[in-house]
Amino acid sequence: MTNIIKILDSSNRISGSEIGNMLGISKVAVYKQIKNLKQIGYNIKSCTKGYKLIKGKKLFNEFEIEFNLNKSLDVCKIIKYYKKLPSTQITVKALAQKNFNEGTVVIAEKQTSGYGRIKRVWNSNPGGLWFSILLKPFLHPEESSKLALVLSIALKHTFDLYTIDSKIKWPNDIFINNKKIAGIIIEMSAEQNIINWAVAGVGININNKLPKEIQETSVSLKEIVNKEIDRTEFICEFFINFEKLYNSFQKEGFKQFLREYNDNLLYKNKRVLIDTGYNVIDGINLGVDENGMLIINTENKLKKISSGTLREYKK
Ligand code: BTN
Repeated sequence: MTNIIKILDSSNRISGSEIGNMLGISKVAVYKQIKNLKQIGYNIKSCTKGYKLIKGKKLFNEFEIEFNLNKSLDVCKIIKYYKKLPSTQITVKALAQKNFNEGTVVIAEKQTSGYGRIKRVWNSNPGGLWFSILLKPFLHPEESSKLALVLSIALKHTFDLYTIDSKIKWPNDIFINNKKIAGIIIEMSAEQNIINWAVAGVGININNKLPKEIQETSVSLKEIVNKEIDRTEFICEFFINFEKLYNSFQKEGFKQFLREYNDNLLYKNKRVLIDTGYNVIDGINLGVDENGMLIINTENKLKKISSGTLREYKK
């Protein structure tokens, strides 16, 4: 379908047989694909002379993403878009169990049971970017937390496209103007020394309306830049950024990203509280070490923390 969109996009009016010749398919097959495109929202006029794509409001779907990417990626290779799912995490975890390949990405316009870390509800109204990527990294399971840090750097690079100052809140939330704009969750299946699969779920508030109860603490990109965002452009940029970082992370480890991660850390050198699930640690946030552990200067000593929820200390 992406190929037909490309042809229609670059021609004024074109007949079914011409399209068929270009793609090596029959006129009937062209007709069927055009019918499918119309069903998913493309405005295609047909008359005796052929088909014409009427360009209007930009659509968001897997074909637009493939069209926009214009090259094939390995890490985000097979992209599937759904209008509604309970959660893209649940869908991709099921695919992982069926042994689907690395690079399978599932995107949903809306999630009815979207969730975040520690099973928190993730509001997933239409207009945001809600997707999960199936990964099969060559990493020791202990390295998986660093994968989340790498994903957050890829997100940070993507926000840079809009010349806005985004920060990473340890371990992997993205904040703008002290409000959360994006979050990442990693779920995986591992054995003693290998990761069988990891599913990276990414939620980004783009054009979606935020429910009242989170407006104080969260923000959307549309609110920040004051205009509707082209989600296709955003997600393609993210896929390209992530592929590059993921490949060099697997080749050369996390150390190469250490400085960049720490330079963009929210509440760096500030007093913070970290809820580890067992206790709350109070101290100065010194950033992460090369193992991705957060170093906190408590009154008497340095503590290294592998996971938890961090918040700014307020008197
Ligand atoms: C967090 O900040 O706690 C992580 C939020 C992750 C949300 C995304 S949206 C796409 C994917 N599907 C889900 O149900 N969750 C993740």
